[in-house]
This record gives sequence, structure tokens and C-alpha cells, in this order.
Amino acid sequence: MKLLVTGGAGYIGSVVAAQLTEAGHEVTVLDDLSTGHADAVPSGARFVQGSITDAAAVLEGMDGVLHFAAKSLVGESVERPGLYWAHNLGGTLALLDAMRTAGVGRIVFSSTAATYGEPERSPIVETDPTRPTNPYGASKLAVDTALTAFAGMYGLAPVSLRYFNVGGAYTAADGRVYRERHTVETHLIPNVLAVALGQRESVNVFGTDYPTPDGTCVRDYIHVSDLARAHLLALDACTPGEHKVYNLGSGTGFSVQEVVSVCREVTGHPIPAVVGGRRAGDPAVLVASSEKIQRELGWKPEHPEVRDIVADAWAALPR
Ligand SMILES: NC(=O)c1ccc[n+]([C@@H]2O[C@H](COP(=O)([O-])OP(=O)(O)OC[C@H]3O[C@@H](n4cnc5c(N)ncnc54)[C@H](O)[C@@H]3O)[C@@H](O)[C@H]2O)c1
Repeated sequence: MKLLVTGGAGYIGSVVAAQLTEAGHEVTVLDDLSTGHADAVPSGARFVQGSITDAAAVLEGMDGVLHFAAKSLVGESVERPGLYWAHNLGGTLALLDAMRTAGVGRIVFSSTAATYGEPERSPIVETDPTRPTNPYGASKLAVDTALTAFAGMYGLAPVSLRYFNVGGAYTAADGRVYRERHTVETHLIPNVLAVALGQRESVNVFGTDYPTPDGTCVRDYIHVSDLARAHLLALDACTPGEHKVYNLGSGTGFSVQEVVSVCREVTGHPIPAVVGGRRAGDPAVLVASSEKIQRELGWKPEHPEVRDIVADAWAALPR
């Protein structure tokens, strides 16, 4: 297929672009490099530097879009909600309009666990209430809502994948390694590994009084390679007029303390931890049921262990 990957110079988009080119697809990456890196674009893909609001120029003749481009810092979204609505919702609406004009119906969208907010039960299933607690999650949920409306009204063929915590690195068939390198890093595993690399003194643990076995927050970690594979399956599942939504996690929760312990074992570094108070809006437990995507698309995580995710992330870091 001829495919447009928005945000394909970013962490997840570059891994998906790499897997798509390996599978024989013709890939164009559209990325404004606001948080991405030009050298993350796979060598087999064409790169166009630009915004999703200018997608019309590159959509002609495409068979589908994989849409990763977004602003995704929760704290920033609280401070600058307008930026998130304009970028994530406004930008995506412009992209959807351009897709309609170009007659492109297939779209796989990066949604998020943040659409659920504080869950009532664990694991979370797709039909559970969506009550985002920050503008980032709200803007992603608004896109999901728009995709449902566009599928019903215009026969768009969207699939939303609601990622939980993504980690690890991907080594492509040509030996090239794709890894996480956000300039502003808010994710736990890279921040803990930065301590082992000597780039940070300690890791902050926000809250040890949650109703979890060791008192720290529990999250569901999914390996970026497993996550990326789900996008290829989703592309084949796109159905005109139907909006399909799938959670993507490994189905197992790991606490912050457990992740830090695994990082200590993998790196052999003591990794000092500084315990602080809870952060506002952090749910105690966020674990996905990925039963629906397993049943409907035959997806299964190959690396459900957080140790594999940490080990691959660690091995990929330059030192
Ligand atoms: N990393 C996670 O754990 C996680 C979890 C849930 C959802 N997501 C979602 O997955 C997607 C990818 O996340 P990531 O971690 O790879 O982020 P990232 O910041 O590494 O990648 C995003 C890419 O999009 C580009 N971009 C941003 N706005 C753009 C615009 N308007 N036009 C063109 N390009 C633009 C950036 O330059 C960057 O290369 C995002 O939509 C994010 O919200 C990520």
C-alpha cells in the first residue's frame, strides 16, 4: 500500500514506518520535527517536513494514513489547553478534510489510555466510561468522537488504538535501532535509565500511599515493537463506515517500584529513588484489557515482560 505516516520522525511513528517499509509498503513520512528527529525516518521512506495541516499536498494516491503527529505532554496540556485543542483536534480535523478531498478513507489513529481518566475497574475495556482528566486526554477523545462521526457520515474507515505505557526499542531487519528520545521526557523507564547513565542524580517516585501492593502507581507497559505490529493489523481491519477502537497494553500491571527494581537489575546501577507526594490526576492503577484486539485482529504481545522492555531500551542507549 501507499501510506502516509504523520509524526513518523517521532518515537512510535518511526518504528511503525520501519515495520511498514520492511513489510513492503511505500511510506511517506510527514513530520514538522517539533519533537521528532529527521534521522529517525527509516531510509526506505520518503520524508516531507511539514505540518498535518498541509497534508493535502502529499495525500494524492495514498491508500491510508497512520496518524501519530500530536502534542502529548500532559502537564503542558494543563498549562496551555488551547495549544492542545488546536494541534490535536484542529490539526486532525484539517487532516480528515484533506483525506475526504483526496478520497483516502483508511486511518489508524494514536489514541491513548488518557481518554479513560480515572478508571472504575481494572483491567479497562473499550466500553468503559471515558472521562479524561486533562486537556491532552480530552483532545484525543475528541478526535475519537470525530472519527466515529466521520465514519458514519462520510464512510471513513478509522481504527483508534488506545496505547497504554509504551517503552523499549526496535531493531529493524537492517540492524538499525529505533529508540525513545523525547527532548522533554516524562516517561518513567527512560527517566530511570537516565540515572543509570549518569545524566540524572535520582528518580522521583510520586506517591507511595496508593491502594496498590507496594503503594506506588501501577501501569501497563507495552513494548514498542508489539505496539507497532498492531498498526499493520489495524490497517487491514479498516472498514468503511465503521470506527473500531482497541486498547493496546500487555494486560499486566507493574508498579513504579517494580520498574525501578527491574532497571537496577538490568543496568547493575543502584539508581537512587527520591520519594515525594502524589501528582495531581495520577490514577492508582491503569491496566488495559487487550482482549478485544487479540480476539478480533489476532494480535498478541511477544514481549509482555517489563524486563524485556527495559533491557531493549537500555541496550539501545548510546554511551
Ligand atoms: N509514547 C507513549 O507512551 C504514548 C502513549 C499513548 C499515546 N501516545 C500517542 O502516540 C503518538 C506518538 O507518540 P510518541 O511518543 O512517538 O511522540 P513523539 O513526540 O516522539 O512523536 C510525535 C511526532 O509528531 C510530530 N508532530 C507533532 N505535531 C505535528 C504536526 N502538527 N504536524 C506534523 N508533525 C507533527 C513530532 O515532530 C514528532 O516527530 C502521539 O500521538 C501520542 O499522543 C503515545
